[in-house]
Amino acid sequence: MKVLIVYYSMYGHIHKMAEAVAEGAGEVNGTVVEMRRVPETLPESVLGQMGALETQKQLAHVPICSVEELSSADAIIFGTPTRFGNMCGQMRQFLDATGQLWAEGALVGKVGSVFASSATQHGGQESTILSFHITLLHQGMIVVGLPYAFQGQMRIDEITGGSPYGASTIAGGKGERMPSENELAAARFQGKHVATIAARLFK
Ligand SMILES: Cc1cc2nc3c(=O)[nH]c(=O)nc-3n(C[C@H](O)[C@H](O)[C@H](O)COP(=O)(O)O)c2cc1C
Repeated sequence: MKVLIVYYSMYGHIHKMAEAVAEGAGEVNGTVVEMRRVPETLPESVLGQMGALETQKQLAHVPICSVEELSSADAIIFGTPTRFGNMCGQMRQFLDATGQLWAEGALVGKVGSVFASSATQHGGQESTILSFHITLLHQGMIVVGLPYAFQGQMRIDEITGGSPYGASTIAGGKGERMPSENELAAARFQGKHVATIAARLFK
């Protein structure tokens, strides 16, 4: 049973969340977990202006995902930073290259799930995840979120990401805040939850 974690991360927040998702998924017996980045679409000069080159160097060890390998997974958990309340363009471009998979119904019946990151607390984490779900539904995937069984999303004693739609983190206006323990716990929970459901379907 294979769980693929496919993400884009410009400054490392989604990468950190992806690691926690992978940890959670890996707790389910018999699960192979693989992490993949989607291809970059911005020129290096623009990435330089955005102050993203250092992080991209650090993430270079994570293999780039090919569209074809999505077919080999039983579950795919996607991670994206928010861009104006939606998924990032790199992820959109990657998904828009899956037309052939759609035509073949290659992703039908696979489990799909999404986690996100935004700079501000109400900057669009939920809209990013929910609008991402539309693509997964068009692909015939079984959409899984983050149930309230993850009690950490009830917290009001600290600022935290995470909603029934999926784990999320608040990065701060300058990207100065890394995922909190609670947000990482949400990501772990989501990974394990998705892998548990996928394992049941796999049987
Ligand atoms: C073009 C652009 C648009 C963005 N739009 C939003 C937004 O709508 N709301 C928000 O809170 N943050 C927004 N951000 C901030 C990113 O979501 C933030 O940098 C990201 O979540 C950090 O995750 P990463 O380090 O994994 O890339 C935007 C950033 C860029 C570059």
